[in-house]
Amino acid sequence: MTDQALEAATAIVRAAHEAPEKRPTIAGFFDENTYTVTYVVHDAETKQAAIIDSVLDYDQASGRTGFESAERVLDYVTEKGLEVEWVMETHAHADHLSAAPYLQEKLGGKLAIGKDIVRVQDVFGKIFNAGTDFERDGSQFDHLFTDGERFSIGTLEGIALHVPGHTPADMAYIVGDAAFVGDTMFMPDYGTARADFPGGCARQLYQSIRRLLQLPEETRIFLCHDYKAPGRDDYAWESTVALQRAHNVHVHDGVSEDEFVEMRTSRDATLAMPQLIMPSVQVNIRGGHLPEPEDNGVSYIKIPVNKL
Ligand SMILES: [Fe+2]
Repeated sequence: MTDQALEAATAIVRAAHEAPEKRPTIAGFFDENTYTVTYVVHDAETKQAAIIDSVLDYDQASGRTGFESAERVLDYVTEKGLEVEWVMETHAHADHLSAAPYLQEKLGGKLAIGKDIVRVQDVFGKIFNAGTDFERDGSQFDHLFTDGERFSIGTLEGIALHVPGHTPADMAYIVGDAAFVGDTMFMPDYGTARADFPGGCARQLYQSIRRLLQLPEETRIFLCHDYKAPGRDDYAWESTVALQRAHNVHVHDGVSEDEFVEMRTSRDATLAMPQLIMPSVQVNIRGGHLPEPEDNGVSYIKIPVNKL
C-alpha cells in the first residue's frame, strides 16, 4: 500500500533541499522547567510564521500561571516583524500548559491540532468528569488537521502527518525540509517518548516513528523536549533522519517492532507521572483555556484520586 501522505511529505522535503528559499527559518525557545521547546517557524520572504507548542508557566504549589516563556516568543515575533498565521500544537501535552490562547490573543493566527484530539477529549473528559458543558468535538480549536493535509506558512509548503502512539492525536508538521515531530522520538542519545498515557500505544508509536524515518535522510528533525542524556551536558533539540536512523538508542535501523514494544513497555512501567499532568491535560484539552470559572469567578483544577 502506498503512503500518499508520506510521499507528498517527501516531495516537500526534497524540493526544499534543492531550493533554499523553500526552507523555513526556525527559532527554538527552551523552557527549563518543563524541558519543552517552543518553535517559531517563518518564511523569510513573506514573514508569515507559525508558533508550535508554546508554554504557559504554571506554579503548581500556588496555582499561579505566568507568561515569561510566552513573552520570549512574543518578543521574538515582534522584533522580527512576523505575522502569525498558525498557532499549532503537536498534541495535548501532559507536562506543560499551552500558552496558545495568550499568544493568539496578542498575535492572531489559527489555533490548530490533530483531529483525533476528540478522542483525547473523550478519554480525559471522562477521567476528569468534565461535565456536559465540556465539548468533546475539538471546537476549542480553529482547525483540526488530518493525515496528509497540506498547509502553508507564507510561501512555504507544509503537510501534517498523523503519528499516534504517545497519544492518539499526535501530529508531526513538515515545513519545507524541517519536521516538527512532537513527542515521538527525542534526541538519538535519549530515544523516544513514553506511550503509557491513557490512549497511548507503544506499537503505534513504533510505526509512527518508523514512518517519519522514511522521510529523506537530510530532513531536519525538531523535537518537542530534551532532557539531556548520560554524557551530554547541553540541551539539544535538532537532529536529522539520518542521525536518528543510525543512532537513536530505541529505534535505530534494525530494532524490530516487538523489541521496541518490549523495551518501551517495561521502561514506561518505571516512569512517574509528569509533575504537571493534572493541570496540563485539563487545560490543553480545552485548547489551552482554563476550566470554566465557578460561580465565584475562579477556575479550578481537579485532581482525580486513584485514577491515573
Ligand atoms: Fe507529550
